[in-house]
Amino acid sequence: MTLYSRITGTGSYLPPRRVSNDELAQELAGRGIETSNEWIVERTGIHARHFAADGVNSSDLALEACRHALEAAGRNAVEVDLIIVATSTPDMVFPSSAAILQHKLGIAGCPAFDVQAVCSGFVYALTVADAMVRTGAAKCALVVGAEVFSRILDFNDRTTCVLFGDGAGAVVLEASDTPGILASDLHADGSHVGILCVPGHVSGGQVLGTPLLHMDGQAVFKLAVRVLEEAARATLAKAGKTEADIDWLIPHQANIRIMQGTAKKLKLGLDKVVVTVHEHGNTSAASIPLALDAAVRGGQVRTGDTVMLEGVGGGFTWGAVLLNL
Ligand code: ACO
Repeated sequence: MTLYSRITGTGSYLPPRRVSNDELAQELAGRGIETSNEWIVERTGIHARHFAADGVNSSDLALEACRHALEAAGRNAVEVDLIIVATSTPDMVFPSSAAILQHKLGIAGCPAFDVQAVCSGFVYALTVADAMVRTGAAKCALVVGAEVFSRILDFNDRTTCVLFGDGAGAVVLEASDTPGILASDLHADGSHVGILCVPGHVSGGQVLGTPLLHMDGQAVFKLAVRVLEEAARATLAKAGKTEADIDWLIPHQANIRIMQGTAKKLKLGLDKVVVTVHEHGNTSAASIPLALDAAVRGGQVRTGDTVMLEGVGGGFTWGAVLLNL
């Protein structure tokens, strides 16, 4: 029996439209909303984000990311026997974006489902896929984070609309005789629903409540730094490792100050933290696999490195995965 799962390929995709802070500030000024490149960079580290064109959905971004990941793994779509998509911005209420993605990949038959854990979605999805591979339920899984957050932003709320972007990242996770995923640690606490949510829902043919993102930024900030440290420590303990064993920390790319705070608590230099938030903004469930792929393709993260992935998001949800690449 296979004991382990291992990432054998990574891929990502950003929609071509790059929107700089200046461009966004100019657009918002047209609505009477004041912001600036200086404010956004100082408070968040974000310089730009990408927005998908009208009609382009999460499954479209996911498809491109999966093609790149499959190519990197040397696999063909027909070999995939499990698809998990982490998203909070699915193409439809149902069916899942994973099922739609499966069809776009030109395959049928294997299980395909979405995981909804907002910005922690990718670490949740990877943990589920790891469990399925280790029990023999799958041998070659596509694990994807894909989002079109631009669709749920309130462009009249400067405290949130400057933070998010669209994109997708994917990994191929395969059965392996040697350890890839070493340990993971997942949590949720629904008592914090109100600090980060999109409260709208569909009923009787209408959207009831606002379908736009609401966030209490400062409450999220404080909670995020605390739980990210706890999740990292718990995951290291499960794997029998310490902070000194981490070659790379790839946190959810929400805000450079949260990442700096987390790295400091784990006594890691910033040179060990993969940062893409400056160019991607916060892409929710897509942010970790996007950053992982950028670091792999950029030659930062290499085969054999020990990598800590960390997610935190609405729910509240949080978690971490420690792996050998
Ligand atoms: N441009 C200019 N001014 C702004 C903007 C803006 N875009 N947004 C807010 N301000 C103003 C506020 O109105 C406030 O003005 P006031 O002092 O006159 O009232 C001032 O800037 C300071 O606002 P704060 O909310 O105190 O700013 P803060 O330093 O807390 O930064 C931020 C706000 C960036 C949202 C921060 O709290 C944060 O990053 N929080 C975490 C958010 C996050 O990580 N979310 C995602 C995690 S989970 C997920 O990804 C879904």
